[in-house]
Amino acid sequence: MAVIIDGKKVAAEIRHELKEKVEWLRSLNVRVPGLVTILVGDNPASLSYVTSKGKACNEIGMLSKIEKLSADTSEEELLKLIDSYNSNNDYDGILVQLPLPKHINEDKVIERIAPSKDVDGFHPISVGNLVIGKDTFYPCTPYGVVELLKRYKIETSGKHVVVVGRSNIVGKPVANLLLQKKEGANAVVTVCHSAAKDLSRFTKEADILIAAIGRPYFIKADMIKDGVAVIDVGINRVEDSTLPKGYKLVGDVDYEGVSKKASFITPVPGGVGPMTIAMLLQNTFLAYIKITKQKLS
Ligand SMILES: NC(=O)c1ccc[n+]([C@@H]2O[C@H](COP(=O)([O-])OP(=O)(O)OC[C@H]3O[C@@H](n4cnc5c(N)ncnc54)[C@H](OP(=O)(O)O)[C@@H]3O)[C@@H](O)[C@H]2O)c1
Repeated sequence: MAVIIDGKKVAAEIRHELKEKVEWLRSLNVRVPGLVTILVGDNPASLSYVTSKGKACNEIGMLSKIEKLSADTSEEELLKLIDSYNSNNDYDGILVQLPLPKHINEDKVIERIAPSKDVDGFHPISVGNLVIGKDTFYPCTPYGVVELLKRYKIETSGKHVVVVGRSNIVGKPVANLLLQKKEGANAVVTVCHSAAKDLSRFTKEADILIAAIGRPYFIKADMIKDGVAVIDVGINRVEDSTLPKGYKLVGDVDYEGVSKKASFITPVPGGVGPMTIAMLLQNTFLAYIKITKQKLS
């Protein structure tokens, strides 16, 4: 049976490490890192994400603010608000919760965030720096995947990582992160997508398989080799009438079968999911360090 990668535990460790650093800053009587999260509209899922992010900041002693704007906020108003936080010295990180209402151009909004405060890692400058291997902010979920591999001492150097999914928020950045010529990466990476013919041909070759597809139970035991480390990024709702909510959350991997063949596996929930907010806090702390260093130099 596979070792279960406990993302909840690792995320709690990261939050604890950051809390100690923030407490140390407070003891010095200096400014602490701050994150502003901007929500446009009243999408319940987005509201819940934004609330969790704010709560996580507060729990570790960081400064946190949630800007809740009505669904009819104009693009111009949103851009102005971003400008005001770009020049606000109390906030090191700016996160605009996606998706945005249809009348607002998401690309324009992401590009307006100062790259030095782009803690979501979606700004084209951050993406470009990641691709060319320069110091930058990594998107939080892929960063969480790499951190899980690192903390579970799963060797990546020279290993064949197969990523299924090529989205800009998971597949492409995780592939780029693991491709970098540095410690905790240096992998040989294959990226698959919906046009792949005979996907199993690729997945069976993986030493590390990363599933970011958005289809429940998609990766089956007969698609992998024995001993592969499996990272399941997927979060899918499937009906379950036995539960009060009427549904449960499952991953892209058929956990039952795959966990019998894999060496490591992330459960859903409790695997990659909890890492996203932990890495957002980490990015906010890094933004604070970079901004502080710049001011001192
Ligand atoms: N915090 C977290 O843990 C977190 C964060 C983000 C996302 N997620 C979850 O991760 C999953 C993926 O998210 P996403 O945003 O990357 O999804 P996405 O934008 O829908 O991308 C899905 C990718 O899977 C590929 N794909 C779909 N069907 C396929 C098939 N039959 N064979 C091979 N590839 C196939 C698609 O290929 P094409 O490009 O060809 O269409 C696409 O590249 C979702 O379940 C999402 O909820 C979790």
